Amino acid sequence: MAEQVVKPISTNQISTIFPQSMPMELSCADITAEICWPVGIAELSRVLGGGLVPGSLVLVGGEPGIGKSTLLLQTASQLAQKRGAVVYASGEETLHQVNLRAKRLGISGEKLFLLAETNLETIFERLDRLKPCLVIVDSIQSVFLSELETSSGSITQVRECTLRLMRWAKQTQTPVIITGHVTKDGAIAGPRILEHIVDSVLYFEGELFSSYRLLRSIKNRFGSTNEVGVFEMKENGLSEVDNPSQIFLAQRQRDSIGSIVTTALEGSRPLMVEVQALTSLTSFGQPRRTANGVDFGRLLLITAVLTRRLGLKLSNQDVIVNVTGGIQINEPAADMAIALAIASSFRDKPLNYETAAVGEVGLSGEIRAIPQLERRLNEAARLGFKKCLVPRSSVKNINVSNIEPLPVSTLREAVLLGLADGKTTPATNISE
Ligand code: TYD
Ligand code: MG
Repeated sequence: MAEQVVKPISTNQISTIFPQSMPMELSCADITAEICWPVGIAELSRVLGGGLVPGSLVLVGGEPGIGKSTLLLQTASQLAQKRGAVVYASGEETLHQVNLRAKRLGISGEKLFLLAETNLETIFERLDRLKPCLVIVDSIQSVFLSELETSSGSITQVRECTLRLMRWAKQTQTPVIITGHVTKDGAIAGPRILEHIVDSVLYFEGELFSSYRLLRSIKNRFGSTNEVGVFEMKENGLSEVDNPSQIFLAQRQRDSIGSIVTTALEGSRPLMVEVQALTSLTSFGQPRRTANGVDFGRLLLITAVLTRRLGLKLSNQDVIVNVTGGIQINEPAADMAIALAIASSFRDKPLNYETAAVGEVGLSGEIRAIPQLERRLNEAARLGFKKCLVPRSSVKNINVSNIEPLPVSTLREAVLLGLADGKTTPATNISE
């Protein structure tokens, strides 16, 4: 007798995802299938473009410990109550651990089936019996297919498991959510190689020391990307933050030096954040620049413009810029606020507490147009700002009430106007 290993036929052709491959006229295609279900967590539904689409595969990526499992367990519980059986396959935690977490989150667990299993074939077997309305696989790096010889978490396993889940999702018209770990530098071959396979990619991010978390959509086959959901990690799980601007500005101090508010756009959502700057004489060696929450390259550009075009002597100053709340702003529209905060700190004069600023700074010191000014101004007005420094070129045809746009064409104009507008605080003279 000789042993013969039967190898299954390779299934890694992407065409097998779609059972029917005959050409079909677009106008005859069945579009009623693509209705989405809200998931019971409004911030998540928003990022998904309205909700979960049956048969879609969604990847939720993020650093370990950021809260992916927590978010998905909460989602699972919501959908189980609304639509029926949900399977949560956990390859990272034991049933006991998931149970403890569920208790902490106050989840009753009806119709929520936990499955501590890492063999994907076994998972499929169980799913076929349960016929759930949603499947969560936490995480894709922990599951494996026994027919492949590499260990779980390897590129082949991760890719092949995802393709298999994709096929299963499409065949059964059941949405599947998978989680994937990414490290800070994105070095480990993880979710990045899956981005082109799955239907939607969401990244969960935030500073580990801050309790706020942002859920961003990087790719979405069923809705717009660049949407962002804001959550706060609390004792009993993640709670939605539906008015993030108010929270990010909650600890702002009146007429403090080197501080101004700007409106960053996160997808279609304006977010008011406070930008702070501190300049201080370099005690030895090279002056340093520190950027927290803003792009380092843009900070260098802005300090260079302030030095060369406005004559601010920053070459012997350390400059620190910080965005409060652990938020990262990547838009050039925050340039003017950064510049004003630096100028305010350098001149030791406060900016007006009720004035915000948006605008991009160009190399010759001009203030350039930015997109969606009206939306940003409306958000600023909603939060009680009275004035906002804006690029002169964007100000035409905008219609806002309760806030006065202050159009400027150069950074010099903006700094002069901003500093003249600020009230000088009564002297307190702590140091003397
Ligand atoms: P987790 O969802 O396990 O992260 P991930 O799956 O992305 O690795 O979240 C873990 C962190 O969240 C952990 O450090 C503790 C914190 N946490 C809370 O603060 N409150 C809670 O209710 C829960 C469940 C977790
Ligand atoms: Mg986890």
